[in-house]
Amino acid sequence: MKEIIERLKRGDFVIVFDSKKREDEADLILPAQFSTPQKVSFTLNYARGMFCVAINPDVQKRLNLYVPYNIQNSCTFTVTVDHKDTKTGISAEERSKTVKELANPFSLPSDFKTPGHVSPVVAKEGGVLERKGHTEAAIDLCKLSELFPAALMIEILDENGDSHNKEYVKDLAKRFDIPVTTIEEIEKYILLSKIVI
Ligand code: 5RP
Ligand code: CA
Ligand code: ZN
Repeated sequence: MKEIIERLKRGDFVIVFDSKKREDEADLILPAQFSTPQKVSFTLNYARGMFCVAINPDVQKRLNLYVPYNIQNSCTFTVTVDHKDTKTGISAEERSKTVKELANPFSLPSDFKTPGHVSPVVAKEGGVLERKGHTEAAIDLCKLSELFPAALMIEILDENGDSHNKEYVKDLAKRFDIPVTTIEEIEKYILLSKIVI
């Protein structure tokens, strides 16, 4: 986990698998404050899943992001957003701007327009100890790395759109030197180090 934290602090991607009994999927995760058009473009080319930004409940409240569905154990998606200074909001450059501004501690509700092209997802307050989703893993990793609690998060799908191709994930990790961890490992690290996050 130390290596994962070091890499996140440096602004690198990490890959997180959830449990085989759950989605059995891998998400590419990057602290939102390090978003760049090049990194967004990388996620669209090599991960291809749903383009989300995990946020903690404080960010959701401050930005007054409405949650249209609140279903037990499902993802807490808010309305979609674009930063106010974007035009169409879809390009890698404009999505990167939106992602980065979601990690700006001084952003206001008036800085975003809705609907947009980025989907914020709110993590449970208790993190992976409360819900074992990628959303909570992404926020817990930001907190463990002492970074702003917002992270770009996208499922890894292969060229055919398969989200369960472990060989593809392994090759991607190797080719681009991206460290891999699991939600189970994050949970163990939090429990063992007795870190209050
Ligand atoms: C949004 C999803 C993904 O599974 C994403 O990983 C976040 O969900 P969860 O926290 O449930 O893992 O549904 O595309
Ligand atoms: Ca999901
Ligand atoms: Zn997931």
